[in-house]
Amino acid sequence: MWNKVRFGWSRGVSRITSRQVLLASFAFVVCTVMGLSVSTLILRSQTLKSPKPADAKNGERIYKTGCNACHGELGKGAPQTSTEFKRPSTFPDFTQCSATTAEPNAAWKAVIVHGGPSRGFSTIMPAFGELLSSQDIDDVIAYMRGFCPNPHWPRGELNLPRALVTEKAYPEDEFVVSTAANVSGAPGFVTDYIHEQRFGVKNQLEVDLPVYNQDQNHQWQNGIGDITFGVKRVMYSNLRTGSILSLQGGILPPTGDSKRGFGNGTTTFEPFVAFDQLFPSNTFVQFQMGADLPRHPDITPQSIFYRTAVGQTFASDHLLGRMWSPMVEFLANRNLMDGAKTDWDVLPEMQVTISRRQHVRADIGVRTPFTDTRGRAPQLVVYVLWDWADGKLWKGWR
Ligand code: HEC
Repeated sequence: MWNKVRFGWSRGVSRITSRQVLLASFAFVVCTVMGLSVSTLILRSQTLKSPKPADAKNGERIYKTGCNACHGELGKGAPQTSTEFKRPSTFPDFTQCSATTAEPNAAWKAVIVHGGPSRGFSTIMPAFGELLSSQDIDDVIAYMRGFCPNPHWPRGELNLPRALVTEKAYPEDEFVVSTAANVSGAPGFVTDYIHEQRFGVKNQLEVDLPVYNQDQNHQWQNGIGDITFGVKRVMYSNLRTGSILSLQGGILPPTGDSKRGFGNGTTTFEPFVAFDQLFPSNTFVQFQMGADLPRHPDITPQSIFYRTAVGQTFASDHLLGRMWSPMVEFLANRNLMDGAKTDWDVLPEMQVTISRRQHVRADIGVRTPFTDTRGRAPQLVVYVLWDWADGKLWKGWR
């Protein structure tokens, strides 16, 4: 779905053979090993891990004395008649797994330690940083996690920083505008408007509309490309090990004008697997591996891709402040034709949270081809994302 711009290829088309599958699996393992070794080299940073495991019993005691009055015994909110304040629209119902599981413990801890305004929430939510120890707060969070009765919801900790190209495994409620611009050669850029929406416990819908603006023979050509409709499903997720695995199936009808290079000219199927691993030091690795399978490979050849993003999240004040996530992506693409070469790109980048609530973020990087570079220009890639489940775009800034 990224960079549908194809570069010259020769005739002769083949379908996936077992040798290629083997090759792809091999490359995947190489990426994994490479990713893991790079990640262990990266500096370790502070984590929210407390030395002792959280004690939900102690948490219950704290909740019943300090939080009950507003949040209610069952976590749904105390009866309106007993609370004086006017409820903000974002007032939490902690029994709603759909709303609570996406919030990592660190986000809750920030609000409990520093009070509502620290994340752009209401001042009615008091700061408990002076009253409760860090351990007490971890305990009360552990107790509150019990309000969601269904353990199958993937936890927000596994929602790793979004890379510029590599797709992550976690299902999102997100709107992203992402642009890739040539930094040399003919001017041109592709902007993807991406809407992602969760449904059910483990699923996500995705629509990606690419818009092309390109200088072709000194004339600007504008047009849409092939729209992606995708469904993602989490197959496995485990907070204890920090792992999440998803499958996505996508279909791209030929909505773009392939004569101008804005699409494949034939319906394309795009299956992929995504696996993300978070380490206790907030180092992470994301893998994505899949194929673009046009229905008529004589019009556009089939191709396979493998992508890896390795990164580390840093933040002041134990992940309570602005978060910086430097990452490097390694991107490979290979047409399934006899004699085709694998295109490798490297993409160093930096993601940063912009809004105080961290629901608006930006990422910038430069994608540089390092094999088969002929006709492939380096690109500046930028996105801005809005996690709309965390509140309106203009809320949560101060
Ligand atoms: C005086 C009432 C009051 C008390 C006491 C209170 N809260 Fe809150 N809390 C609120 C309100 C109101 C909000 C919603 C703020 C908003 O959405 O703008 C909130 C929000 C939160 C959130 C944020 C949830 C999210 O959506 O991210 C957490 C976590 C939380 N409270 C935990 C606690 C804990 C733990 C305690 C006890 C130690 C506690 N609260 C005590 C009123 C209170």
